[in-house]
Amino acid sequence: HKKIKKICCIGAGYVGGPTCSVIAMKNPNVQVTIVDLNAQRIESWNSDELPIYEPGLDEVVKESRGRNLFFSTGVDQAIIEADLIFVSVNTPTKYTGIGAGYAADLGYVEAATRQIAWLATSDKIVVEKSTVPCRTAQSMRVILEANAKPGVRFDILSNPEFLAEGTAISDLIKPDRVLIGSLDTEEGRAAAASLADIYASWVPRGQIITMNVWSSELSKLAANAFLAQRISSINALSAICEATGADIDEVSYACGLDSRIGPKFLKASVGFGGSCFQKDILNLVYLSESLHLPEVAQYWRQVVDMNEYQKRRFTNRIISSLFNTLTGKKIAIFGFAFKKDTGDTRESPAITLVKYFRAEKALVSIYDPKVEESQIWMDLCEPGIVDDLPALQKQVSIAASAYQAAEKADAVVICTEWEEFKDTRLDYEQIYDGMKKPAFIFDGRLVLNEKRLKKIGFKVETIGRPGESLRNPEFE
Ligand code: NAI
Repeated sequence: HKKIKKICCIGAGYVGGPTCSVIAMKNPNVQVTIVDLNAQRIESWNSDELPIYEPGLDEVVKESRGRNLFFSTGVDQAIIEADLIFVSVNTPTKYTGIGAGYAADLGYVEAATRQIAWLATSDKIVVEKSTVPCRTAQSMRVILEANAKPGVRFDILSNPEFLAEGTAISDLIKPDRVLIGSLDTEEGRAAAASLADIYASWVPRGQIITMNVWSSELSKLAANAFLAQRISSINALSAICEATGADIDEVSYACGLDSRIGPKFLKASVGFGGSCFQKDILNLVYLSESLHLPEVAQYWRQVVDMNEYQKRRFTNRIISSLFNTLTGKKIAIFGFAFKKDTGDTRESPAITLVKYFRAEKALVSIYDPKVEESQIWMDLCEPGIVDDLPALQKQVSIAASAYQAAEKADAVVICTEWEEFKDTRLDYEQIYDGMKKPAFIFDGRLVLNEKRLKKIGFKVETIGRPGESLRNPEFE
């Protein structure tokens, strides 16, 4: 099989950037060019302020950038030169047309595929890195073959990415597995072997698994559906805990010790977020429906419904604890990213909560250690409503610290599990002193020691633990 010398990655986002930076670091003899249409993003990748925050990413980029790793807007040139091309473009949920709200918008994948087809003057291995519906490789193949220059051959591989934001670099350096899907032909297997060699520079061969291309595509959707399902399952149980006096942390500990279940992804929370879980499950729902499998669609749909319910339920608990009205009250939001150690806010539960609080006429002050202010405004503005920002800014402000956000607040709501929000890190006595009384804390991420905070004087309400009305002082 062919030895890869030049790689092009189309899409310099959360996946393309870190993935191909690690590939470049581990393969110093392979030239890796990451391209994007977004010139500003490329400029940031070439600067000291990378466009995404990810622990360890700076060092990885610095090691190879300018040596065998390049970031460029020269999409065409990079495609022409490459032996292997990763397609790592965005695949958002469609919001209009057939499948709106469920199906993946494959417009970016198709545009990238057409560009490859038009430009290629030599054989290319084209790798689906984006998460796509099952059988997308087939559409890509048809487009590539219909537009190929005579004598140019394309091999298509599926190589879904399993990194998690916040731990992308350690996930890439020590992956549980690398998955490569190919056609079961001699050429398909040879292309898979060429890609496997790239990963084998640092991943043990036994962890690089090959399979048929449709299984590979579906495995990515399936893995995300399983992960999200665990969160929705524990969140569904958290509602029972709150109503009975059971404690969700104890329940998940007890369940997680069962080796068939395992302890990971059993942390109750205000709900999952991120660009992938909801999108990929809805994609699976759409796929099931188009295959005339409504019961299967309904089964997975419930995972997303439960997540929406959890956000609503937590909000309702906040409202009822605050004497059934939020009008004019100040709510401090601790954390706006969808989880810790990332600045990414896509589908962050904090966005939904702020919208609910605004509808209740609360005043909201937001603090997040990594999210850019402009991003917060963008996330909270309703698209198309031109004068929304001034109206928004009457109700919402952005604070420079947790202390500032909590100043004169009636309640603190923890939306992201940043380490710095732990009661061992923040001075909650200072926060308490600055707040209105009674001072409430709503812990949507199970980061606080309830007892310690109650001692300070806070009224604490934690997801998955019984509320005030159920607590029996004799047992505390
Ligand atoms: P992103 O939106 O951060 O990055 C995609 C980039 O592709 C954008 O910068 C966009 O400008 C660029 N792009 C789109 N069309 C292009 C074209 N024709 N030529 C050049 N550049 C083009 O998206 P992200 O988060 O990196 O996700 C990419 C894919 O990876 C999605 O399918 C996603 O589902 C999947 N994925 C994402 C994970 C995550 O944690 N974000 C994890 C695993 C998979």
